[in-house]
Amino acid sequence: MKKRVFSGIQPTGNIHIGNYLGAIRHWASSQDQYENIFCIVDLHAITVAQDPKELSMKTREVAGLLFAAGIDPRRSAVFVQSHVGAHSELAWILNCFIPIGWMNRMTQYKEKSEKQKEQVSVGLFDYPALMAADILLYETDQVPVGEDQKQHVELTRDIAQRFNSIYGAVFKLPEPVIPDVGARIMGLDDPSKKMSKSDANPGHAVNLLDSTDAIRSKIMKATTDSKREICFDEKRPGIYNLLVIYELFSKMSRKEITARFEGKGYAQFKNELAEAIIEGLRPLQLRYRELTADPHYLDSLLAEGSARVKPVAEKTLSAVQKAIGLVPPI
Ligand code: TYM
Repeated sequence: MKKRVFSGIQPTGNIHIGNYLGAIRHWASSQDQYENIFCIVDLHAITVAQDPKELSMKTREVAGLLFAAGIDPRRSAVFVQSHVGAHSELAWILNCFIPIGWMNRMTQYKEKSEKQKEQVSVGLFDYPALMAADILLYETDQVPVGEDQKQHVELTRDIAQRFNSIYGAVFKLPEPVIPDVGARIMGLDDPSKKMSKSDANPGHAVNLLDSTDAIRSKIMKATTDSKREICFDEKRPGIYNLLVIYELFSKMSRKEITARFEGKGYAQFKNELAEAIIEGLRPLQLRYRELTADPHYLDSLLAEGSARVKPVAEKTLSAVQKAIGLVPPI
């Protein structure tokens, strides 16, 4: 029996190389090893204000990008969260078992809500309960995510354990799987901030669908420091971040990279980095254009994905409903 992998991505903003290097790349490369379920989490997206047209466009765009990145619909189920009603239903039930103190500790909520103050939605606060529902519905073994989602997966384990301690072994306990390198790609404009889909500065992130000119210009403008030496030193976050991106796109070792740029300047390194990203993204961009030429094809793949996962989700939801004493309909 293959272990089951579940992960998710929000259809908001522009999907960037941080999402790719921290998560999507791993989802695509481990498909033979695991049974895979990948979810486009539109219900998470609406925890902050979304333009309706933009949300549906982005949902299809993310689907196209996942398939273009190599996720194979025969080996992996890709589906839209709102197409499987069990996610919302289980989230409600979990809400009633999660102590509010646990939710108050979630750092992502604290960061996101700081800007919005009193206007912040209840949904944003409750975001981790829906994420726990996503994961627990599928008896997930592993959740491959970037560093920023680790706390949410750990909370999911705590919720499952608490529920199981009251009602018996209903939920499987999932493990977060965080890559050794690339789990936290930083902003190009400010290497003290995580690269994020919602940052308004155009120089902040390289997006997966950026043109070659945009990639070159963003990399050439990326923040570094006033030193000269090109080496992997975490105390120099700007150049370190760029080197990590180069390492992952070039697939060279750190030793080879250090030797290659010894005595060379930042401009030459940045030129080569931009070319490595352009080359690395080229096949994905080509495939994306092919796939999205027929939008019905994408929609049909998503429909197949939800049809495949729905029975699994409904089985878990029924087990939970039964465990807590909800009377089933006849
Ligand atoms: P989201 O949409 O913010 O990001 C998708 C994936 O990309 C990773 N990631 C990064 N990795 C490295 N460096 C970065 N700068 C970077 N930014 C983002 C994220 O860690 C994530 O793996 N809450 C989730 C979506 C979700 C989910 C789930 C994930 C909903 N339900 C269940 C796993 C399981 C999110 O907002 O990801």
